[in-house]
Amino acid sequence: MKVLLVGGGGREHALARTLSRSPLLTRLWCAPGNPGIAEVATCVPIRAEDIGALVAFARDQAVDLVVCGPEAPLTLGLADRCAEAGLRCFGPSAAAARLEGSKSFTKEICDAAGVPTARWARFTDSAAARDHLRVQGAPIVVKADGLAAGKGVVVAQSVAEAEAAVAAMMDDRAHGEAGAAVVIEECLLGEEISFFALCDGTQALPLAAAQDHKRVGEGDTGPNTGGMGAYSPAPAFTEALRDEVMARMIRPTLAEMAKRGTPFRGVLFAGLMLTAEGPKLIEYNVRFGDPECQVLCLRLRGDLLAALLAACEGGLDAVALDWSPDPAVVVVMAARGYPGTPLRGTAIGGLDAAAAVPGATVFQASTVAGPDGTVLADGGRVLGIAATAGSLREARDAAYAAVDALRWPEGFCRRDIGWRALG
Ligand code: AMP
Ligand code: GLY
Repeated sequence: MKVLLVGGGGREHALARTLSRSPLLTRLWCAPGNPGIAEVATCVPIRAEDIGALVAFARDQAVDLVVCGPEAPLTLGLADRCAEAGLRCFGPSAAAARLEGSKSFTKEICDAAGVPTARWARFTDSAAARDHLRVQGAPIVVKADGLAAGKGVVVAQSVAEAEAAVAAMMDDRAHGEAGAAVVIEECLLGEEISFFALCDGTQALPLAAAQDHKRVGEGDTGPNTGGMGAYSPAPAFTEALRDEVMARMIRPTLAEMAKRGTPFRGVLFAGLMLTAEGPKLIEYNVRFGDPECQVLCLRLRGDLLAALLAACEGGLDAVALDWSPDPAVVVVMAARGYPGTPLRGTAIGGLDAAAAVPGATVFQASTVAGPDGTVLADGGRVLGIAATAGSLREARDAAYAAVDALRWPEGFCRRDIGWRALG
């Protein structure tokens, strides 16, 4: 089976490695990929957002399955264009990808399907948004309604902070048109969990859960990021909670999407808050989380490619995926400056030494090949240094031993990944 993987981050490196081990696989391309992915796939220089070129490439190569890693190509209609060209694509249609692309759409689906979530209101007028904030009080959450690269959310501890967020998003358009409307939400308190389910439009297969670390600073301080590290399994997310989330969130959401004529196929990523009143949905994403995907892939036993195919074609009930009980941890190495403007182009040494640490795996996220076989940093979150071992503590120690084997003074990481579970 010939597969084209779309994307070029740590998530795609993990997916590429896992797909490359499938007995069904005969050829793997990745667009655009990165130097790490190039070790297991043929990288093709097509941007993930260049839908026309991706579809043309897949058609020319008679690709059997297109697997989309990031959300942007899906919201741009990659799955729709593939379907028109007679190509199979793992990932939802643009209409179903609105579950990630529009926060208010997701809230409407939640209300229609009875999915427990934070109380909310949507505003297109900044004066009305400010009035609402003053009535509700703090803490309160302000979100740009559209896609803002994970940066359009402010969890405000005071009304003044919330008002400043409204001004930045709506009046100054800090996130462009994504801020033309804002969603203002009740602030949920509790532990945050990332949970993933494969969906074929009508049926859902629970995968595993992970805990991400969104803030840039230790002890969960500082600005939000795309995720600075993750571990799986997440002990706080019990089997009973998983069953409750499948029954009260995932399945009703699939039923509601199907009823509207926009069935969801792909991986549904539920961002959850485990509140005192039970699990509540923070948001859906229509793809694997990054870095969560990296730890999921390390724990996965079974054929990922067969499972993704079943999600495209129906028949998820026949899929058996197992998860290693051994915990996996990933520590994100970011370039200095992240989540602001990261320093680009610095050389990363010690990648082989890091990968040689027992139990460790190095995933490349934002890298480019430099001269003479060097690897250069090329974005904010640059590497995922992952490890698996018999206990979470040992996995964490192995990941940090691998971090310490790197020679990259311009990189940094959080030193406390896993603290909630390790105490
Ligand atoms: P999002 O972009 O929707 O994932 O939001 C980014 C982060 O903001 C989430 O991972 C949460 O940590 C936080 N957040 C979002 N919505 C809420 C909420 N209603 N209550 C508390 N925290 C939230
Ligand atoms: N790590 C969170 C995300 O992928 O959105």
